[in-house]
Amino acid sequence: MNKFFICFFTLLLLKAELHAQFNIIPQPLEVSSTSKGTFNLSDKTPVVFKQQGLEKSASFLNAYLSQFYGFSLKQRKTSATQGIYLALKNKTSKTVGNYALEVKKEGVFISAATEEGVFYGVQTLIQLLDPSTKEKTLAVPFVQIKDEPRFQYRGMHLDVARHFSKMSFVKKYIDYLAVHKMNYFHWHLTDDQGWRIEIKKYPKLTELGSVRKGTITGFLPGNGNTNIPHGGFYTQEEIKEVVKYAADRYITVIPEIEMPGHASAALTAYSYLGCTGGPYKVQETFGVFDEVFCAGNEQTFTFFQDVLDEVVALFPAKYIHIGGDECPKTSWKKCPKCQQRMKDHQLKDEHELQSYFVQRMEKYINKKGKSIIGWDEILEGGLAPNATVMSWRGEEGGIEAAKQNHYAIMTPGNYMYFDYAPSAKRDSLTMPGLTTLEKVYSYEPIPAGLPAESRKYILGAQANVWTEYMNNPSKVEYMIFPRMSALSEVLWSSKESRNWTSFENRLKLQYNRYKLWGANYYKDALENSGKAK
Ligand code: ACM
Ligand code: ZN
Repeated sequence: MNKFFICFFTLLLLKAELHAQFNIIPQPLEVSSTSKGTFNLSDKTPVVFKQQGLEKSASFLNAYLSQFYGFSLKQRKTSATQGIYLALKNKTSKTVGNYALEVKKEGVFISAATEEGVFYGVQTLIQLLDPSTKEKTLAVPFVQIKDEPRFQYRGMHLDVARHFSKMSFVKKYIDYLAVHKMNYFHWHLTDDQGWRIEIKKYPKLTELGSVRKGTITGFLPGNGNTNIPHGGFYTQEEIKEVVKYAADRYITVIPEIEMPGHASAALTAYSYLGCTGGPYKVQETFGVFDEVFCAGNEQTFTFFQDVLDEVVALFPAKYIHIGGDECPKTSWKKCPKCQQRMKDHQLKDEHELQSYFVQRMEKYINKKGKSIIGWDEILEGGLAPNATVMSWRGEEGGIEAAKQNHYAIMTPGNYMYFDYAPSAKRDSLTMPGLTTLEKVYSYEPIPAGLPAESRKYILGAQANVWTEYMNNPSKVEYMIFPRMSALSEVLWSSKESRNWTSFENRLKLQYNRYKLWGANYYKDALENSGKAK
């Protein structure tokens, strides 16, 4: 080997060592360390910032220190001899989320062009702290970091319909997103097994639609029924609380209100909205049901407009997710009203009727200044003009949307479904699919076959957490960790810096962070994650 190569490989090794030494997930864009030493962070250290908005980052840091290290910092506006300094600086890159972090003997300096950049810098600082120490003085290693996200949409979904999550866990889940530098929380609020959002104009949605009489036991079709009622919903005040909690962490909450399928809970409350008029029940089992909203009945559209009026007022997000997946056309084929609608509008089949439904709702939502997201079935029968597609049945929906100059978010089942088993050992009840940690880590959100000019339409990716087989927070944690840590790197880190061996090394310390948080996780993820599995 000549000298050049020896130098080159030594540099590579040094770089890998630096990455491992700092154990940051997701891997930052640039990490360097020009001098050895540590800054001592203790309750004597102030957090110093002048600009309005940065108190959110300071408060997050303090809440974290207080919960996990037992002390917090005084907040100051004027500089001190040593401190944590947070600052907005316009000269830095305009990429939203970009930040610079430096640790030296005078303290920790975090600067960014945007508030969220400073917030992400704080997340990185948190990862420079030893998760296992009991000390009240924390040694923060000297380092210089420059960082920015690769994708603008970095999402996690949570299904609270199949199993309800209490407010405390929803907030904890949002904190998990925050520490992984994710910025979208897709809240799946309505489905066959429960309607979970208070709508004041339609009180029966939650009075009747939020409770099912029991739940199957074992894998679908089940080997019994708990016969224990399962219910729960969020009041509008609680929804506002969650939206604010997320916004304080630079996370946008996207509500999903399912239409025209996955309708059993809503139809149980208001049976006139279905093609047959019922009787309906809140489902106790899982899968796809023929009971869907009638597309021929004007009252269905009035209902959704009223519901959306209340939803839009609660969620400041630009996006409303309207579902659109898994809507069997069985009842529409038999329904005189649906058939009449097809005749009146010259719709050639029931897919076009679904497209009519979605486009009508899109128009209403657009008029309110919002855009729709739908699962990739909304491509069938013609895509609504401004819709963003969430590609779940593989990558094809995302590719097709991007080719039609529509935005897409990638959530293909084989890589992004965290309800699939994390290992071939299948040591707990899960969906039949298999998505190992390494599989998640290997995911590339820009599909290989996508023409270069369409790549800008891929906003990012998201993991989906369907909770049919997750009936408590500990199980949800087991299914998301450590796969969510792998996802954060897929979404945040540059493509070039992704390296499985480096990730494996850094993940060992991440396990100690899960322990610090008191979070459950799949402990054998690395051992059972080989490419072959
Ligand atoms: C889905 O998994 N039905 C979007
Ligand atoms: Zn009908």
